[in-house]
Amino acid sequence: MGPIRDTTPGPWRAGRISGHDRPRVGDESEERVNQFALPHGMGGRVVGLVMAVGNADMERRAVSALALSGDESVLEIGFGPGVGLRMLTKRLPRGFVAGVDPSEVMIEQASRRNRDALERSQVELRRGTASALPWDAERFDGVVSVNNVQEWPSLRGDLHEVWRVLRPGGRLVIAVHAWVAKYAKDRGDPDGPWDEHILEVLSATAFSDVTSERTRAISGRAFYITAHKATGGRSARGSA
Ligand SMILES: C[S@@+](CC[C@H](N)C(=O)[O-])C[C@H]1O[C@@H](n2cnc3c(N)ncnc32)[C@H](O)[C@@H]1O
Repeated sequence: MGPIRDTTPGPWRAGRISGHDRPRVGDESEERVNQFALPHGMGGRVVGLVMAVGNADMERRAVSALALSGDESVLEIGFGPGVGLRMLTKRLPRGFVAGVDPSEVMIEQASRRNRDALERSQVELRRGTASALPWDAERFDGVVSVNNVQEWPSLRGDLHEVWRVLRPGGRLVIAVHAWVAKYAKDRGDPDGPWDEHILEVLSATAFSDVTSERTRAISGRAFYITAHKATGGRSARGSA
């Protein structure tokens, strides 16, 4: 077998290592944690600037897919530099926006980008991960995740956690580059169409109306996955 060709586009390639450990809160001092998985230090600030430009189209499309009317409460998981949070505050003039991310550097950048909304308490940011969302059950009408589902340590367990904080009838949107599927292999995601695997796990987690659209973003091929929390549905926490 020949060498594995890295299909990661342009600036996204720098600092990537295959089979990387999944980041946790506090991992910033670890050299092995790559900058896109957990932006840290000076390199993380630069990566934040790259993502703010290069992923804005994906954030925009994911926010649109939430189909908001203006007064909902929405959570963004893995908000990075905070571009999506800012789009959400504009779409939710009577609503509330929460965000969770394990990176201190991203919390700093997102806070600067959303300073006014933070001051008027329209936005609340917490340091953490998808594995333990620091909010009550059924707190949100919508949850959005752009380019971080590949970093979640347990797809099943973490989707159950998303299910917990969504109100019945609430909508989940996951947008992700197709080429980051390789980073999900080491947590047990199978070879084959990665979005289909995510759809299967969503259905097994009691989400309904699961759909995937495959399209091109500025930074490469991407999946936009949507799902609803069915009214009266039950979800069992899984481990894989
Ligand atoms: C590739 S960046 C994407 C940022 C932004 N959404 C975008 O598309 O530009 C991944 C982000 O997810 C965060 N992250 C990493 N692991 C996470 C986890 N388990 N739960 C939530 N966020 C995580 C990182 O700190 C980083 O800000």
